[in-house]
Amino acid sequence: MEDIWDIMRQRHSVRQYDNRAVEPEKAALINAEIERINAESGLRFALFVDEPEAFKADKPSYGSFSGCRNYVVLAGKKGDDEKIGYFGERLVLFAQSIGLNTCWVAMTFEKSKVQPSLGAGEVLFDVLALGYGLNEGRPHRSKPADRVAEINGSTPEWFKKGVEAALLAPTAINQQRFFLRITKDGRVAAKALLGPCSKTDLGIVKYHFELGAGRGNFEWAE
Ligand SMILES: Cc1cc2nc3c(=O)[nH]c(=O)nc-3n(C[C@H](O)[C@H](O)[C@H](O)COP(=O)(O)O)c2cc1C
Repeated sequence: MEDIWDIMRQRHSVRQYDNRAVEPEKAALINAEIERINAESGLRFALFVDEPEAFKADKPSYGSFSGCRNYVVLAGKKGDDEKIGYFGERLVLFAQSIGLNTCWVAMTFEKSKVQPSLGAGEVLFDVLALGYGLNEGRPHRSKPADRVAEINGSTPEWFKKGVEAALLAPTAINQQRFFLRITKDGRVAAKALLGPCSKTDLGIVKYHFELGAGRGNFEWAE
């Protein structure tokens, strides 16, 4: 098992995929993780393999996808945005750990072609493109730590590591609109600032923060 820091550092959004099919064994691993996530979260994630139609993007203004044949539909109840981010990123990092590339997609997919067979009250939030990339992507530009978190001379190391991991997280249009701080009673407050998908981003960021800081070191202030 690779170090989780390596996995977070290796993960970049990949938008160009080659034609290699995802092996059934790997699809089974993804499906097993999806089952665990759905059971734990009450969300409805579903993997679709070999369905290139969904990525015939007709909106070239944001992102340009090619060769993507597989995707995961991320659905849940209205208001589940943060949860979608948290559990979606768990799946993204799991995929990365078994050698598959991904990209979060909120805007550049053909919704009518994605058939998630939603239940009553369920909403389609995003899809994750999934497969073997033509490349591994590249590191995004990042804000400095003190723009996304309250850091001073007495800030504990675990918090700084959490912020470092949070800055590796994908966010919509790389906006990194979040703020992390330690509250007076020693817990960690995470806030989404205004921006498209910033609540989903917050869930993604919190997942990364937990991995970097260590879950045993702190509690979230809700
Ligand atoms: C919630 C969310 C939605 C996104 N939607 C799109 C999208 O519609 N099209 C696209 O090309 N990239 C999309 N992205 C990918 C971001 O542009 C990307 O994560 C960001 O630029 C940081 O780059 P990185 O993922 O390589 O670290 C989305 C990312 C997130 C987190």
